[in-house]
Amino acid sequence: MLAIVGIGLMVLPVSAGTIGENVGKLGLSSEKLVEFGDLIYNTEGANTCLKCHGKGGVGGDQAGAANLQKPKTWVSYQALGGDEAMAANKEEFLAKMEAALHYLINKGGTTWNQRFEKTHKGIAYEWAGVKNADGKEVDKYDSMMKGATTGPMKKKLKDLKKQLEADGKKLKNKDVAEVAAVAAYEYVKSFDTEGVFK
Ligand code: HEC
Repeated sequence: MLAIVGIGLMVLPVSAGTIGENVGKLGLSSEKLVEFGDLIYNTEGANTCLKCHGKGGVGGDQAGAANLQKPKTWVSYQALGGDEAMAANKEEFLAKMEAALHYLINKGGTTWNQRFEKTHKGIAYEWAGVKNADGKEVDKYDSMMKGATTGPMKKKLKDLKKQLEADGKKLKNKDVAEVAAVAAYEYVKSFDTEGVFK
């Protein structure tokens, strides 16, 4: 019994089976990911990254949507310990943030709230004092953060699937959606004006 618990603990940190790891195995270059992320993010229509967050990550029309040029204002940044945690161990901090946000972009706020912390034991949000983009104190993600789960985004995932296939990577829809989440995150990181991802 103890041995099993021991092994369980060893796989707890941000590693095994995260979306980032799964997609990492495909060996896509970071240029390619940013290119795919541009395709995903700039999808036109209702309930898309572009509509809610705006061109370049600001000026979208969804109330409470994060300013994507200012990662220090994000829920994840605050709830994972903010400046202090980043100064203590930047690599670990960014790895946790990345796992949380790949999942959020892949599945949306509602599923994140229900499942993320249960399935990622090494990563816990401390919600006390966390504020959303409108300055309101929050203790979970806004269900309006839909990520790449809505109708127009799904159509774009089909385009992405074809592009990956043309590149010799024939993937299941679920895996294409994981590539989309990682790619969108890489693209969003390029909006950063606060040096968090430098
Ligand atoms: C229907 C509107 C909507 C769509 C579509 C949407 N978002 Fe969001 N997004 C939000 C809202 C609202 C928040 C703020 C969540 C909160 O504070 O609880 C948010 C937050 C975020 C955050 C910050 C997370 C954090 O920890 O604070 C990132 C990054 C993000 N969105 C990226 C994206 C990307 C990339 C896409 C497209 C694949 C996308 N969003 C699609 C509304 C949306």
